[in-house]
Amino acid sequence: MSVDQALTIADLKDRARRRVPKMFFDYADSGAWTEGTYRANEDDFHKVKLRQRVLVDMTNRSLASEMIGEAVSMPVALAPTGLTGMQHADGEMLAAQAAEEAGVPFTLSTMSICSIEDVRSVTSKPFWFQLYVMQDKDFVHNLIDRAKAAGCSALVLTLDLQILGQRHKDLRNGLSAPPRFTPKHVWQMATRPFWCLDMLGTKRRTFGNIVGHAKGVTDLSSLSSWTSEQFDPQLSWKDIAWIRDRWGGKLILKGILDEEDARMSLDSGADAIIVSNHGGRQLDGAASSISMLPRIVDAVGDRMEVHLDGGIRSGQDVLKALCHGAKGTYIGRPFLYGLGAGGKAGVRRALEIIRKELDVTLALCGERDVKNLSRKNLHTDL
Ligand SMILES: Cc1cc2nc3c(=O)[nH]c(=O)nc-3n(C[C@H](O)[C@H](O)[C@H](O)COP(=O)(O)O)c2cc1C
Repeated sequence: MSVDQALTIADLKDRARRRVPKMFFDYADSGAWTEGTYRANEDDFHKVKLRQRVLVDMTNRSLASEMIGEAVSMPVALAPTGLTGMQHADGEMLAAQAAEEAGVPFTLSTMSICSIEDVRSVTSKPFWFQLYVMQDKDFVHNLIDRAKAAGCSALVLTLDLQILGQRHKDLRNGLSAPPRFTPKHVWQMATRPFWCLDMLGTKRRTFGNIVGHAKGVTDLSSLSSWTSEQFDPQLSWKDIAWIRDRWGGKLILKGILDEEDARMSLDSGADAIIVSNHGGRQLDGAASSISMLPRIVDAVGDRMEVHLDGGIRSGQDVLKALCHGAKGTYIGRPFLYGLGAGGKAGVRRALEIIRKELDVTLALCGERDVKNLSRKNLHTDL
């Protein structure tokens, strides 16, 4: 099946599983420890029930909206994901192009394979940059300045990874970037010939934002010790101020899952928060994103923009999050599966699938404009 024949995100996932070496496919398709929160993110969307309406005018529908004041063709952004260039050669550049063509925001991770400058060189509209605050503050300052110089229009500051959660699959697979060359890894790669061919055609196989930019990181062994020690466990609310000041543009706080933290975000001067548990990759046992969304919207939604990620696998899921008050949503794995399945065409297909589902769902709920969705479109008495 070609990517254009894929009807669902699950179809793209099946194809990605057959094309991407196991260690990198598993890296995307995994959560922390028991993976309970990873599963809950998806499962809890099924508990939200839509109100079906009939005999209303369903012509001239609009999915267009705004996220942090930027026009979007639908309120669905690509989430920042590390090692995206290992799902497919030059993955971040291809995904950014697909997002630009689809009229939705692309967010580049600090832990990307393609660098900020690489992505800038193949796009013509501003993309968003996600920042991890490292202990090496010179590196962080420099990274913020590079994102500014590349014209990024929003900084997405991730707050839920001060220390690393554990994913058993990654440890069992011996995941590393660049890939290691043990017999097991060589076998995993050799059985994925298209992936290998594409990868041989690019020079981008390590963390593009870090190597050559962080002090002392010049080769593979210095890189792996640097990354494992560098996430800052002392990051605090006070740090938001200097990051915001240095950046000077739109700021989005990612990884808010609690009403108290949402209220604290109000004073930080951020433009938006993302209700997120890092796709179930950090605190296993945390609540699903969609289950926390209503109370976070009730706490701060009238004073700041609330976005959501985690578990979105369809346009119906996007619509449910919008009904619960999210102004925008993000997809992580759905676009990674598309990328692994077929590069840029696969990301394009993932966005087309979600757009079509969102549009048809909107109509069958008796609405014509995503901006009019609210809790009135849901059954709340289940
Ligand atoms: C493979 C992978 C890598 C990720 N890397 C990052 C990252 O570098 N920075 C970040 O803020 N979030 C990262 N995330 C979390 C995503 O931004 C997002 O919160 C999550 O994927 C949303 O859940 P979903 O995959 O169910 O859509 C990553 C997620 C995945 C699946």
